[in-house]
Amino acid sequence: MLYIKTYGCQMNVYDSARMADVLAPLGYAQTATPEAADLIILNTCHIREKAAEKVYSELGRLRALKEARAAGGQETMIAVAGCVAQAEGEEMARRAPVIDILVGPQSYHRLPELIATVRRAGGQALETEFPVESKFDHLPDSAAETGVTAFLTVQEGCDKFCTFCVVPYTRGAETSRPPEAVVAEAKRLVGSGVREITLLGQNVNAYHGEDARGQVWSLGRLIRHLAEIAGLERLRYTTSHPRDMDDDLIGAHRDVPALMPFLHLPVQSGSDAVLAAMNRRHTVLDYRRLVDRLRDARPDLALSSDFIVGFPGETDADFAATLTLVEEVGFFQAFSFKYSRRPGTPASILAKQVSEPVKTKRLAELQALLLHQQQAFNESTVGRTLPVLFQSPGRLAGQLGGRTPYLQPVHVPGDPALIGTVQPVTIAAARANSLVGRLAGHSREAP
Ligand code: SAH
Ligand code: SF4
Ligand code: F3S
Repeated sequence: MLYIKTYGCQMNVYDSARMADVLAPLGYAQTATPEAADLIILNTCHIREKAAEKVYSELGRLRALKEARAAGGQETMIAVAGCVAQAEGEEMARRAPVIDILVGPQSYHRLPELIATVRRAGGQALETEFPVESKFDHLPDSAAETGVTAFLTVQEGCDKFCTFCVVPYTRGAETSRPPEAVVAEAKRLVGSGVREITLLGQNVNAYHGEDARGQVWSLGRLIRHLAEIAGLERLRYTTSHPRDMDDDLIGAHRDVPALMPFLHLPVQSGSDAVLAAMNRRHTVLDYRRLVDRLRDARPDLALSSDFIVGFPGETDADFAATLTLVEEVGFFQAFSFKYSRRPGTPASILAKQVSEPVKTKRLAELQALLLHQQQAFNESTVGRTLPVLFQSPGRLAGQLGGRTPYLQPVHVPGDPALIGTVQPVTIAAARANSLVGRLAGHSREAP
């Protein structure tokens, strides 16, 4: 049995599914409990200090589990995959002898080989080179999806080198999958019942996939093509960099009804000085102009973002500029983080690191404003009728769970036969983290 625990971004979620696919032919069926597993994979994230620490504490728990199973005569193999394995593989191997296999994100197709090596020779196997072949050419087709929504990785890696970020080091240089491979995977997903696909990439809008004729496709072109697949109701993509938002992609927001009016477009800071020190290579004005162009193309576009507070050298005035940007642009949701020093990144050795109490105070202030905007946005949908894609049974009996175009979770009384369909729903109320609605045309009291 195989148990996978996934940390970090959606690309790790996608990768975990692919690891399960490559291991299924070896007889590994997935289990939800580590106690039942003879192979445990931790798919790790290195983005902030706390993310990496969690992995070491999990390894401590797994060592006890491995010993308990060994006492009962059962072997347990432990593999660490993902960005911590890539960044700190050798140190991890030394620090945690409980690990049998360390494998970086580009080498998951080699897992069967690594397992065989450890079985045969014992000891630890480490695979964190960036291989010349692409893992996508060597991974099996994705197994049939059981859900209504799915992720599809189209692009990996990053050449942007923001000074705070580990991703260019853990995921390597930017690469794009050929459009034919993406389209084939999308068709398979839709064939197995998927109605919404989220295209993934560390820098998804830098997509530049080359087709068999040598033509290079932009993300906009790929989206227009995918939108033609019969049965595919909704498309999304994440995460985008403001610099790679080209006319074609902005135009797709105007022209392609299946492309949902929701965009995660991280800005990080509202201060030009901080943006420059981060090496974001755009100004606040560039970002605001971009938002204007996007809203011209799609007036109801809901924006989401990431913010870092307490970047080295960030002054009170810089932080105030971030609050101003948030107030003026208006975000429907956002993720915000205290700057976290990552070993090996240029910002980690900058002088003028911001103190922890200042970071805490700024984060609280920013999050209060963002939460206020999110609640206001949710409230603004009350009374409106929105198309909702039903994805699962709801928490309560007789209820369905779905999402609005703006990715808001919504609970609606309804027949489970509606799962996998898009229905008009009148939003009745906004709760803290979700909306409540009823099918349009149905009154709450049965006739
Ligand atoms: N490729 C995406 C982001 C990937 S990381 C992009 O360019 O937007 C997700 C988010 O984590 C980033 O947007 C950033 O806000 C945050 N982050 C990355 N490194 C960080 C660090 N060292 N400290 C705090 N937050 C960080
Ligand atoms: Fe990290 Fe910047 Fe690349 Fe995003 S664009 S992954 S924040 S280096
Ligand atoms: Fe984390 Fe790696 Fe994703 S560092 S955010 S798992 S790309």
